Amino acid sequence: MAKALSGAGLRGQVAGKTALSTVGQSGSGLTYRGYDVKDLAEQCQFEEVAYLILQGKLPNRDELSEYKNKLKSMRALPDALKEVLERIPKDAHPMDVLRTGCSMLGNLEGESSFDEQQQVTERMLACFASIICYWYRFSHDGVRIETETHDDSIGGHFLHMLHDEQPKELHEKVMHVSLILYAEHEFNASTFTARVCASTLSDMHSCITGAIGSLRGPLHGGANEAAMEMIEGFTSADHAEQEMLGKLERKEKIMGFGHAIYSTSDPRNEIIKQWSKKLAQDVGDSVLYSVSERCEEVMWREKKLFCNADFFHASAYNFMGIPTKLFTPIFVMSRLTGWAAHVMEQRADNRIIRPSAEYTGEALRAVPPIDQR
Ligand code: COA
Repeated sequence: MAKALSGAGLRGQVAGKTALSTVGQSGSGLTYRGYDVKDLAEQCQFEEVAYLILQGKLPNRDELSEYKNKLKSMRALPDALKEVLERIPKDAHPMDVLRTGCSMLGNLEGESSFDEQQQVTERMLACFASIICYWYRFSHDGVRIETETHDDSIGGHFLHMLHDEQPKELHEKVMHVSLILYAEHEFNASTFTARVCASTLSDMHSCITGAIGSLRGPLHGGANEAAMEMIEGFTSADHAEQEMLGKLERKEKIMGFGHAIYSTSDPRNEIIKQWSKKLAQDVGDSVLYSVSERCEEVMWREKKLFCNADFFHASAYNFMGIPTKLFTPIFVMSRLTGWAAHVMEQRADNRIIRPSAEYTGEALRAVPPIDQR
């Protein structure tokens, strides 16, 4: 007999095992394979953390260099994929573009055996930035960009293709931090989607395509874009306070605040907030950062709600000149590591995920003849 549902959204229920991360348990509140995310964000590059998550250990200098060179060599897009991207309209949502891009890649370079799981993941890690930027620059600027750049990092590669120039050191550093913060987060909605798909023994591209669809929603990855749309409408900190109070009174949900697991703070916020401040100083901003800080103050004072990872990401990305609609795809470029590692973990000890439902419909009844309904 199945156990009755204890809470909506499966909140608080253990739905499987993982050795990849802990959320809200030890250290600052988020660990990847036993390392505190705060230490990783301070001391590592994103590629080191991707290696850690996917291969199980931090790389030494030679391993990191080899890994980065390998990823650099996999940035080119197949012609058939470029053709597909060129056909997607300018007003498409970039998450839909990425979902299609990932799926098309699976058609062209599918995973024919699970022995290829690391290889196909590395390929996606290397070329998701290329997919996003190729479509974005073709549809918005009418140019076919070169996706084989020599940039040292995935974040640098992304910024270079987007802006047609080598990124500043500060921006490349912030991309490392941001991608590290978003890389893995236990059984969140998109990761669980990937694991459910993996549990049917499906291929890696299907698992990742499904996860992208889950991350797209505003209650999950889409929150950073929604937060940006809100804060850019505020002209000053006082204006922000007045508007936020109105939203709270109208019981509107405010994107970038609250969390399903953390109850008093999101450890990723403190880290990205510092970088957002540095970027604000760098661009000479006098509005967006102070507006963001005031929103944070008001939400805590009025509702004891805290910023999650998405809120200060909005201003940080904006200061780096990244268009709002590309915020969530950056999340994908990073979370792909967590998703793929979960798929691998699921495959290593698999049983098809098939929970039961508590039935709330009609009792058993007879089908009436069609002229008596
Ligand atoms: N703005 C306003 N009120 C919020 C809120 C927000 N961002 N987040 C939570 N609340 C309120 C809820 O309305 C609820 O109030 P109620 O008890 O009066 O109904 C209460 O706080 C509990 O929150 P709840 O929605 O039950 O938490 P959850 O675990 O179901 O949802 C989130 C977690 C993250 C989905 C939710 O906080 C949210 O929607 N946040 C905004 C979207 C977002 O930033 N997502 C990114 C997550 S990393």
